[in-house]
Parts: sequence; C-alpha cells; structure tokens
Amino acid sequence: MILTLTLNPSLDRTIEVSALRRGAVIRAGAAHLDPGGKGVNVSRALLANKVRSCAVVPYGGDEGRRLISLLSGEGIDMITVRVAGVTRSNISLAEPDGTVTKINEPGTALSAADLDTVAEAVLGAARHADWVVASGSLPPEVPADVYARLCRRFAGAGIHVAIDTSGPALVAAVAARPALIKPNREELAEVTGSPITCLGDAIAGARTLRAMGAGTVLVSLGPDGAVLLQDERVSYGRCPVPEPRSTVGAGDAMLAGFLAAGARGESALVEGLAWATAAVGLPGSRMPSPADIHRDRVRITPVDPALPLRSGG
Ligand SMILES: Nc1ncnc2c1ncn2[C@@H]1O[C@H](COP(=O)(O)OP(=O)(O)OP(=O)(O)O)[C@@H](O)[C@H]1O
Ligand SMILES: [Mg+2]
Repeated sequence: MILTLTLNPSLDRTIEVSALRRGAVIRAGAAHLDPGGKGVNVSRALLANKVRSCAVVPYGGDEGRRLISLLSGEGIDMITVRVAGVTRSNISLAEPDGTVTKINEPGTALSAADLDTVAEAVLGAARHADWVVASGSLPPEVPADVYARLCRRFAGAGIHVAIDTSGPALVAAVAARPALIKPNREELAEVTGSPITCLGDAIAGARTLRAMGAGTVLVSLGPDGAVLLQDERVSYGRCPVPEPRSTVGAGDAMLAGFLAAGARGESALVEGLAWATAAVGLPGSRMPSPADIHRDRVRITPVDPALPLRSGG
C-alpha cells in the first residue's frame, strides 16, 4: 500500500484559454474543477490504475468540504483530518500549446496542534504502508523540517519515504535520507544553486542531492523526459506527447507510475514516463487510466551529458 500525505491540498480550477494576454478580457473555454495537491494526485493516479493507496488529507472550511466531497466521489481511500484553517483554491490557465499559468494561494497556516494530529494519522496508517509519499509545498508557519522529521521516524520502521517538494523543505528532507526524491528541473536548480541547461547538469545535480543524503533521485525534465540516478547507475528516457493539453500533475503521475512499478530500474522509469506523458495529454490535473498509458512510446536512450535541455527550465 502506498500512503500519501498532502499538507497543503487545494481545490483546483483549470480553465482552457486560446491565448493568455495580460490586461485583456479572455474568453474561457472548457473548465474543470479538480481536487488538488501533490500527494492527492499521486493517490488519484494509483487509484485509476488499481494500485492500493490511502491519502492523508487535512481540510478546512467550505473549500475543504468541497475538496473532500470531490475526492470521495472519485472513490479515493482517505484519512481526513479537520483543521482550523481554510483549504486554499488554485487557478490554472491552460493554453493549447500546453503552456500552463498557475495562480496558487499559499494556503492557510496549519497550527502545531493540527500538525500533530496529521502526523499521528500518518504514523498510524503507515504501519500498513510500503511507501509513504510526502508531496507538495508546506502551508504557512509549518516548520521546514516537517518532512525530515517524518522521514526519520519511518526509517527505523523499514518504511520507504518518497519526497516531492521544493526549497527549504526539500533541503531539510534530503538530509533525513529519504529513499526517493523527485525534483523537477527548477527544484533541482534551486536546491543545488546551479543552472541546469543540459542533461549533464541534471545528472550532476542528482549526484549532489545523493551526496546530501537522498537515496534514489528521479529528476523530471518536462518535455525532455526524466533522468534516474539509482545505485550510481544513470538512466535517461523521454516520451513524445502527440497533443499536450495540461502539464499540471504530470510530475505526480510520474512519481505514482514509478512507485507502482516497484521504484527500481529502467522498467520503473518507463512506467513513470508513460504515466506522466499520458497525464500531459489529458485536461486539467486528470490522472491517466490504463487505456491512456502507452509504454511502447517511451524511449530509453543512451545518456548524452551534452544533450541540451529545452528552454523554460
Ligand atoms: N510538454 C511535455 N511534453 C512531454 N512530456 C512532458 C511535458 N511536460 C511534462 N512531461 C512529462 O511529465 C514529466 C513530469 O513533468 P515535469 O518535469 O514538468 O514535472 P513537475 O514540474 O514536477 O510537474 P507537477 O509538479 O506539475 O506535477 C516529465 O518528466 C515528462 O515525462
Ligand atoms: Mg512537481
């Protein structure tokens, strides 16, 4: 079973627009309301592919109730924790070429008492878990080492922890030796302090994170695919998307696919890439089902450190 933790979930509204122009009145196309949050997305992707998962979700206010009702409607197995603050709302504007502009609220503060209740829920449920996935940003006033503390508590119990976050929370978590981290290109550049313009830069960044304490490092590189550093072995793969619709949640789908396939080696990298690119072909943060996933389109290629990465990273 894969347990996910989303400390800062959201109600996500994605609106398709033909072009985004500042200051203009823009006609909205299709709109979707989705339950949001990185760990929640991982659980949704696993559910869509019949892999057992449980999502720990703090919620508050009307938005929080709406979020929980959307998740229940999808059939997600959840542990909900009612907290004092109000769940945030996020807006994504999706253009036809796949460009997404996100407006994310920071979320409301999670008190120390609420955080303790959430942590107890995770620790209780984790006894039945092979993996605990802690994903996403931290709400205001939550200490940056919260994921790190969870990592340390699980390490002794033989539970693997995967971390997908950014900035100080990622730096703190890496020092607590998580089994897996999945930074994207921007997160890796921020943590290492070095720009990432070619595949070799991404591999060097992954090695830096390993030296800081991470086990396996899976770096997602947007349209350039992903590179995996595991037991000193480097693998690289990519997968074309015929019609990109929304990259929101692509990284979460990748992490879900990688874990679902056992989190080891090229077969897990292929699965992660197949799930991620399938998510890019779907609107909003919709997660792919088996019929959307095409493993045969994934190409594992020899690692060329000089390979330039596309702009935008
Ligand atoms: N434009 C694209 N074309 C093809 N594949 C893409 C594209 N964008 C993303 N992907 C696929 O999705 C994976 C994850 O994307 P990305 O690196 O953007 O993750 P992310 O920034 O963590 O996403 P998020 O946090 O929104 O879930 C990539 O490794 C790649 O396989
Ligand atoms: Mg991400």
